[in-house]
Order: sequence, then C-alpha cells, then structure tokens
Amino acid sequence: MIVVVCRGGDCGSRRKHPGTDHVAQLREIRNAAGTKVAVTVSRCLDACEHSNVIVIIPDADGRSAGASAVWVGEANDAEVTDDILETMAGPGGLTGLPALVDIHTFHPTRQNRRELDEELG
Ligand code: FES
Repeated sequence: MIVVVCRGGDCGSRRKHPGTDHVAQLREIRNAAGTKVAVTVSRCLDACEHSNVIVIIPDADGRSAGASAVWVGEANDAEVTDDILETMAGPGGLTGLPALVDIHTFHPTRQNRRELDEELG
C-alpha cells in the first residue's frame, strides 16, 4: 500500500485551511505506516478543489484483484485522518473502507491520475 499526501499549493495551506494541523496530520500518517505502507508527499495533483487530497493505493495483491486507488478529498480534520489511518491498518486490497474515507472518496480525472503517475515515477 502507498499513501500519497498532497502538499501542493492548496493542500497543506494554512491560509486555505486554517483549522487543519497539516504537520500533525502528516506525522500521524507517517507514524502509522509501519513496514507495509509507504508514505510519500506529492506536489499538486491538480485536484485542488478537493484539498487536502490523500490518495491510498492498494498493494500489489489488491491491484491484481482489481482494487484501484482511493482518492480522498477534504481530508481536513482529525476524524477523516483517523479513518485514513484505519484504512492503512486494514487489508491491502482496500476492502471495507471506513465511513469517512468512503464518504470523502472522489473520482479523479485523467489529469489527476497523470499527475499522480508523474509523482510516483
Ligand atoms: S495542491 Fe493538492 S491537489 Fe493541488
């Protein structure tokens, strides 16, 4: 599993999201990663209207089983972050998503996916 935390111009912006502790959020995600989750910080994924954006990519087995990346938008409070952490602790195929991850999921555009691919190299 890979978790991509966008920290572009809008995601991570204290001015745009003054009530969000962006540093604490990233620290919590990194601390929860353990050995089976890789965490990476990206530049803008061109989905700023959904900021803060966090993308959760299933592991290889999950992808083989047909799972695709989950794009979480408006990840701006502790409750959504908690559900992202719960997702990270769950199955690598991203089945049975926690409620707030499910609610905050949005469908990426082709441009969003292209930006993500570039970030991941
Ligand atoms: S800054 Fe995150 S999508 Fe643009």
